[in-house]
Amino acid sequence: MRTILIVEENRMFQKMYQNLLTGRNFEILLASNYNECVRHLQTTTPDLVLMNPINTSNDGISIMERIRGPGAVNKSIPLLVISPKDDIQLRKEAQRLGAVDFLIKHLAPPKAVIKRIESILEHRQPAPRHALDPRSLKQGDVLDDRYEILERVGKGGQGAVFRAHDRRLEEEVALKILILNPELAEELLETFLREVKLSRKVAHSNVVRVHDVGQSGGVHYITMEFVSGSDLNQYIYDNWGIGYRQLKDIFVQVAQALNAAHQIGIVHRDIKPQNILITPSGHVKVADFGIATAAGAMLKSTSELSIGTPDYMAPETAQPNCNLADPRLDIYSMGVVMYETFTGVLPYEGKTIVEKIQLHLEGKVRLPSALNPHFPRPLEHVILTAMHRWPSKRFQDMNEVLVALHRLRFNQ
Ligand SMILES: Nc1ncnc2c1ncn2[C@@H]1O[C@H](COP(=O)(O)OP(=O)(O)OP(=O)(O)O)[C@@H](O)[C@H]1O
Ligand SMILES: [Mg+2]
Repeated sequence: MRTILIVEENRMFQKMYQNLLTGRNFEILLASNYNECVRHLQTTTPDLVLMNPINTSNDGISIMERIRGPGAVNKSIPLLVISPKDDIQLRKEAQRLGAVDFLIKHLAPPKAVIKRIESILEHRQPAPRHALDPRSLKQGDVLDDRYEILERVGKGGQGAVFRAHDRRLEEEVALKILILNPELAEELLETFLREVKLSRKVAHSNVVRVHDVGQSGGVHYITMEFVSGSDLNQYIYDNWGIGYRQLKDIFVQVAQALNAAHQIGIVHRDIKPQNILITPSGHVKVADFGIATAAGAMLKSTSELSIGTPDYMAPETAQPNCNLADPRLDIYSMGVVMYETFTGVLPYEGKTIVEKIQLHLEGKVRLPSALNPHFPRPLEHVILTAMHRWPSKRFQDMNEVLVALHRLRFNQ
């Protein structure tokens, strides 16, 4: 299967090309700006990049440079530019970097663009896989003489997650392959291992248990308890219309997981719907304690800035002197996830990373009751307290959150 990276921030165009191309058996990666592009290019070599060079972050030229410029990892990736308007400077840059073409959106019907992509790829070899590209692992492969790959269950910021059979323990496990820079300093690796070992200390029925960390042929991996079910986003989608009471029950379990971790001094720092896993019977398991940050820090310190989505991040994380061991970081993120889950929309919807961070810093949130006049006021109060922009005005610890959640009463 060929992979196409679509660089486009307009959701409608993203969706349109994504639908057309997946229908023709392409794997699609989406990016709206430079950082998102870099994140993909760190783990994947696409067969072709289709990009709109004009965006609100004004980083079209940097993106083209990153794909085909002298510093690019693989300069031979074909680049097809499709711009909303003709722009002499952009066209010149595209030419200089050897883009295949510079199309103008309203003159290039989507079907013709797809045909063009297919003809460009017709005579090309599939892009070489990165040595550490998790896609090079497939069903039946055995890692480290021990873990037999059964299927891929997800792809995240730092790698991919597989369901695997642990031959030694005779058990099903989740195997998370991390994409790390191979020239990583030893000490960074040690810090990372230390954090993972620390996260093993969080033993709670609402926390995904980490089994082991290891390394085989330059691939670093973590094995953990496999949770059969889905993440919070998918769960809400599959159980559309579930009532406040059940939703509250999910967050009570998330808060219990975080409480257990905070009690032994571990802060999650990456609470988001993808790290909240739920079994079909409604049992919640929070994944990736400490792991996301440890791996993220390594990526950051070894290559370009590669932060995840700031949608759930507490505003003080943007400050240089932020205390990363403050449990109120998790309280904020959980508040944002609650806002999103109970209202169906994110509290702040900036287009770029910078804009998103700015909105979280300003803290001018749309009230859930302004979106829905029937929204229960006590619930609104809990959410807004959890996600207050000033840490001192939030709940101060997870016990306070639990008390507030338990006080909420719903008829359905
Ligand atoms: N222990 C697990 N059991 C079952 N599925 C899992 C497990 N851990 C992760 N997954 C699935 O794999 C997906 C990707 O997880 P991953 O942690 O790689 O990415 P993420 O959470 O989206 O981002 P990040 O890399 O920032 O953590 C998750 O959304 C989830 O569906
Ligand atoms: Mg995760």
